[in-house]
Amino acid sequence: MRTDTPQTIYRKDYAAPNYLADTVEMGFDLDPADTRVATRLTMTRNPAAKGRELVLFGEELELVALRLNGKTLSQDKGDFRIAAGVLTIPTAPASVELEIETLIHPDRNTSLMGLYVSNGNFFTQCEAEGFRKITYFPDRPDVMARFTVMLRADKARYPVLLSNGNLIEEGALPDGRHYAKWEDPFKKPSYLFALVAGQLVCQEETVRLHSGRDALLQVWVEEGNLDKTQHAMDSLKNSIDWDVERFGLDLDLERFMIVAVGDFNMGAMENKGLNIFNTKFVLANPRIATDVDFANIEAVVGHEYFHNWTGNRVTCRDWFQLSLKEGLTVFRDQEFSADMIGSDSGRAVKRIDDVRVLRQAQFPEDAGPMAHPVRPDSYVEINNFYTVTVYEKGAEVVRMYQTLLGREGFRKGMDLYFERHDGQAVTCDDFRAAMADANGRDLSQFERWYSQAGTPLLQAAADYDAKRKTLTLTLEQSCPATPGQKKKQPFHIPVAVGLLDAQGRDLALTLEGEKKAGATTRVLELTKAKQSFRFINVDQKPVPSLLRGFSAPVVLQFDYSDAELAFLMAHDSDAFNRWEAGQRLATRRLLNLTVAVQAARQSGHVVAVDTVLNNLQHDGALADALRATLQDESLDPAFRELVLTLPSETMIAEQMEVIDPHAIHVARQFLRRSLARELRDELLAVYRSHQTPGAYSPDAASAGRRALKNVALSYLAELDDEEAMALARQQDEDANNMTDRLAALSAILNSAAPGKSEALQRFYTEFEQEALVIDKWFTLQATARNADVNTVRTLTEHPAFTLKNPNRARSLIFSFCNGNPSAFHALDGNGYAFWAEQVIALNGSNPQVAARLARSLDRWRKYTPALQEKMRLALQQVAGTPKLSRDVAEVITKALA
Ligand code: PHE
Ligand code: ZN
Repeated sequence: MRTDTPQTIYRKDYAAPNYLADTVEMGFDLDPADTRVATRLTMTRNPAAKGRELVLFGEELELVALRLNGKTLSQDKGDFRIAAGVLTIPTAPASVELEIETLIHPDRNTSLMGLYVSNGNFFTQCEAEGFRKITYFPDRPDVMARFTVMLRADKARYPVLLSNGNLIEEGALPDGRHYAKWEDPFKKPSYLFALVAGQLVCQEETVRLHSGRDALLQVWVEEGNLDKTQHAMDSLKNSIDWDVERFGLDLDLERFMIVAVGDFNMGAMENKGLNIFNTKFVLANPRIATDVDFANIEAVVGHEYFHNWTGNRVTCRDWFQLSLKEGLTVFRDQEFSADMIGSDSGRAVKRIDDVRVLRQAQFPEDAGPMAHPVRPDSYVEINNFYTVTVYEKGAEVVRMYQTLLGREGFRKGMDLYFERHDGQAVTCDDFRAAMADANGRDLSQFERWYSQAGTPLLQAAADYDAKRKTLTLTLEQSCPATPGQKKKQPFHIPVAVGLLDAQGRDLALTLEGEKKAGATTRVLELTKAKQSFRFINVDQKPVPSLLRGFSAPVVLQFDYSDAELAFLMAHDSDAFNRWEAGQRLATRRLLNLTVAVQAARQSGHVVAVDTVLNNLQHDGALADALRATLQDESLDPAFRELVLTLPSETMIAEQMEVIDPHAIHVARQFLRRSLARELRDELLAVYRSHQTPGAYSPDAASAGRRALKNVALSYLAELDDEEAMALARQQDEDANNMTDRLAALSAILNSAAPGKSEALQRFYTEFEQEALVIDKWFTLQATARNADVNTVRTLTEHPAFTLKNPNRARSLIFSFCNGNPSAFHALDGNGYAFWAEQVIALNGSNPQVAARLARSLDRWRKYTPALQEKMRLALQQVAGTPKLSRDVAEVITKALA
């Protein structure tokens, strides 16, 4: 392990900054090899701070000059000192003007943090702590300043020069250079700084804002991509309208820009007025983008736009408060996407999708070595805390306010939040206080959602008293231990509940002590470890529908019979729980099948596996329920597709005491094949009746039809019969959009049919020029059923593969390690050896991306002993690597702890 032990930063150590900033003027002489940055910073001593030193942060900088109030400071004379990325001026007057000159080397910057070059153009990424790679600066979010930025560069090579705010001046300079001067009227923390320079073109439009002012909207891309910007532009306009309508929040700028870049560590970044996006979340047209891509672009454009209020106007006091902006903004983008679909069924589909992400990624995180509260107490590298917990669980926490306070109450809380904190850097507690105060509610216990890690377990039991006609619902909560947190206190949990009569109709619910019946869905507030709720006037024994709409991020246990689950699947008025019932039923089958596979394997009779499984399969309840759903034309096709999709192998793994990836894989494949056999006719009929003829449109209804049709195709491909494969080949030939094209190719690739390499080659040749499509091509192969580590190794040698581009690395390496569990967890341990190699390679160039990959072995202690041992060796190999980044070291250290 590294010799210089990385420091842990604690939330409890927060101290206000000694100096506050006022203005920043920056001048950039842009050059890929050597960019000179001149910064003039005015600051005043913070009366609220204890310390007196002036502290600036800087990393990988060449300091050219440092002047304080006009006087050059000398390190030799002790005017300042630099150690471990911190520049300290021990004594400074109350009011200072600092001039800092640094020299940086964008073309050597492979971390993609700070100022870097992508395909010859300049981009910045400053969140969380990238600004300190540009100049020495008080690079912390509670220091906000007004920025003016002068960009100078060669005019032919860098015709476009962009920064935050408004363009106030531009012109020519000697030697073929030119300049542009930008001024951001709003105070902002340095992490929201951005600049872009290069050869770019834009789609633009002027829109009239709610306030009556006009704003210029631009989407900037590389030449040749203007046929892929319309959807992002539409999404931006919809976002602007939605935020006014739902939250009364209007755009505060004259100009709002989105720029697409091909090399980007994350999804996108909300820099004030100059959002920088991964191309994956901007570029779309029917030829290259799938329905999911279109939906993601809408969500991410919305997300970054919504940050303008939740993140930028009101920002975070420190990085422990990250969920203040991220949880809230994810919640906002989820609501935006749901509202854009509009229909109730569409909202439910969106909700199910979001919960699937939470369960697939966040629940495992919350149960593993990196588990942390939504508001962490400590970190080594903040980049490691841009997690599904901070984002997705954080969004669930925000959603619970809305569930507890109602939509109107939530809006009142938001209004008070902005009234109190506009222009400030604040904490999660400030947000909670606004919600509580605006509604006259005590939300002190609710704080535990921020401070305690782990997924709570909610055990429910229902007791029907036929004589008294009452139903007593007993709810009991607990929460598993997580690193550093052995004992948990009860959470404040909103539990939305309904009761179904024998006909499947909702009962109007009356709680004991109430005079008249209320709504059919009631939100019970569980605040104690164990609590009972009694419903009266319940004439017959009902079937409870619990945690409707997934009203809290918990694991719910209730002892449903198979028949009750099938009943809920058929009748529950809550679409989420209808889907949930099907998932419970399928999970039950899959776990039984997995155990059967293990037993058969242990008995040594390989041939026995299929026989054993076939015998287990013949209860038919699941197939009947799925058949009913498949054929129910009153149901939204998108919803039907979700019901037909079996829980993923990862989801099943999380339900097991000891994970056996191969048994899970065999079991799930077996169930898919037998369902396909039983439902063949119905699947074929649905496939044929859900074509989307005519021009492609990414709207939710059309996308839902395609999704249902393509899930039918994927089941049919399990059968390896000629009729099914002919359909797949036909679709591969005829498709007029990427959704259908990819579904067809995937069906061919995952079947036993011939012609796989021809289909792959045809696809590659057709889309060679489209990087985002070639990413899909890699992913498809990495996650294909017959793929193994050698397939992936060979693909790393393909001329189109490079580890340097994060999207490409993710498309092949991450897809394999996270998306193909049975191949990755091969018994020989070769998957882990490959993983270690790739983590080590990435560690040298891009620590942030390396650390994400490092997390693929998070759950190693859950696996069978043989696999555990091989994973431990791979983890130790990475741990022993010289020059391990802080990012990777933190992840590996915690995994091995
Ligand atoms: N703040 C960005 C978002 O969620 C994510 C991000 C973090 C991007 C760090 C880049 C670097 O919208
Ligand atoms: Zn965000």
